[in-house]
Amino acid sequence: MQHAQTKAAPLPARSLQKSSPLLARLGRLGAVLSCSLALVACGSSADSADASATVQDDAATGQLARPDYQRAMYDPIHFKPAIESATDEQCLACHQEVLAPSVRTESLAGVQPAQVKAWYQDLSTYAGDQETFHRRHLVTPYAKQVMDLKCNTCHQGNDPREEAPGSSATNADDNLRLRKHVDVGEVCLMCHAKMNFEVMGLPEPWQKSKALFNNDCLMCHAAIRTNRHQVNFLKPEAIEAAAQGNGDVCFGCHGGRAWYQMLFPYPRHPWPGGEEVPDWAKDRPTTSLPRFLTGLPAQSAAAADAAQPAATEPTPADSAADTGAQQ
Ligand code: HEC
Ligand code: HEC
Ligand code: HEC
Ligand code: HEC
Ligand code: HEC
Repeated sequence: MQHAQTKAAPLPARSLQKSSPLLARLGRLGAVLSCSLALVACGSSADSADASATVQDDAATGQLARPDYQRAMYDPIHFKPAIESATDEQCLACHQEVLAPSVRTESLAGVQPAQVKAWYQDLSTYAGDQETFHRRHLVTPYAKQVMDLKCNTCHQGNDPREEAPGSSATNADDNLRLRKHVDVGEVCLMCHAKMNFEVMGLPEPWQKSKALFNNDCLMCHAAIRTNRHQVNFLKPEAIEAAAQGNGDVCFGCHGGRAWYQMLFPYPRHPWPGGEEVPDWAKDRPTTSLPRFLTGLPAQSAAAADAAQPAATEPTPADSAADTGAQQ
């Protein structure tokens, strides 16, 4: 539906919204209609910060000041451009449950979490009790030590109504990632791809060749590709410190938890001694994605130069734009 709206002639969203107090009295129908009006507002950049207005309208008509479920779900904070500057606190005001410890004490079959380990839970970085996905990335001690992920590092907005491509007349052209809240090719793959041991000149995959190198990536990487991890969701110094003599730290994000049996095309930042560009790297970007550089004062100026002008029509589908991250 987002798609349809961006194609259609722009509706006077704001005036419609203002002139619709009747709707509020129409009970559920009213809620649904004004919800779709709110949606129009969130698709138009001029009205992008209109959530609070909607809430105030509610208050004026004597309704609850708290947004109802439908409105909250389509709160503009979920979509571009508002989501780009949203803080974790704003998201957590409604979603604190994602950080609550919620692993079952026992599976339905009676297995306790402490009794099971998954194949990837064998790196030295993996510590503590079983944890939920969000906690493992945001609040566990290791996550806090080496990473600084925010909600919007991963969440860039998606269409809650229609998450499958080509399944209705209105979204035939949308470039959606099937049933995904997050663009896995842009985000997850950075830390969960296969290790590209071939370009490193390693004889075999790390699992087999690590003994040759004392399980220490820094034997090579103290001098190779040294300009790394300068992004707003990692803690580069802490990573280097933790990785001294322990390749599990590096491998953890570069092959040790490879959910995806494909490679991530890392940007190839120039580094002293790395002036020559090998053939396989000819098409690689030389800087990280601009959105990963905001908030890094030293780099954001350069990033702004490198960045293409932002797309004008913010829609949830934008976040699913193909990043060409494969192979
Ligand atoms: C005003 C309250 C509110 C705020 C603020 C809010 N959300 Fe939501 N969000 C909701 C509601 C309600 C839903 C619907 C939940 C459901 O269907 O289970 C939802 C759904 C979601 C979903 C699932 C979407 C889907 O397609 O099923 C994600 C992901 C999400 N929110 C992330 C965020 C993020 C990230 C932020 C901050 C940028 C945020 N939310 C801020 C209320 C809010
Ligand atoms: C490492 C990336 C990542 C980060 C950081 C992250 N999320 Fe998510 N989140 C995901 C993924 C992936 C899913 C989809 C899980 C699924 O489809 O079952 C998800 C699902 C959700 C959902 C829907 C929950 C459900 O049960 O469907 C909400 C709400 C949500 N996230 C909110 C947040 C909030 C709030 C934050 C910040 C405190 C946050 N997320 C940080 C990746 C992330
Ligand atoms: C910045 C790097 C980074 C990004 C981006 C990232 N992860 Fe992770 N992920 C990690 C690290 C580090 C761990 C393991 C931490 C540890 O060893 O305790 C992990 C662990 C996991 C686990 C195992 C959780 C457990 O407790 O067993 C899953 C599943 C996972 N990630 C999925 C994802 C998905 C899906 C995405 C994209 C939405 C994603 N990750 C994005 C770094 C990342
Ligand atoms: C034998 C030396 C050597 C060892 C050991 C080594 N690397 Fe590399 N690595 C390289 C070389 C050479 C490159 C490619 C340099 C270039 O871009 O020209 C590279 C590239 C990379 C890249 C970027 C790949 C890409 O597609 O752009 C990553 C990530 C990486 N290494 C991680 C690791 C990790 C993690 C370990 C340990 C688990 C490790 N390396 C061990 C030599 C090594
Ligand atoms: C918490 C996850 C994490 C850990 C730990 C980690 N990396 Fe990375 N690494 C990343 C991410 C994410 C990127 C891509 C960042 C970007 O967009 O520039 C990256 C990029 C790289 C690159 C490409 C550099 C370039 O040219 O931009 C190399 C090489 C690399 N890592 C090697 C290592 C080595 C060696 C270690 C251990 C000292 C290590 N990584 C530890 C997540 C991690």
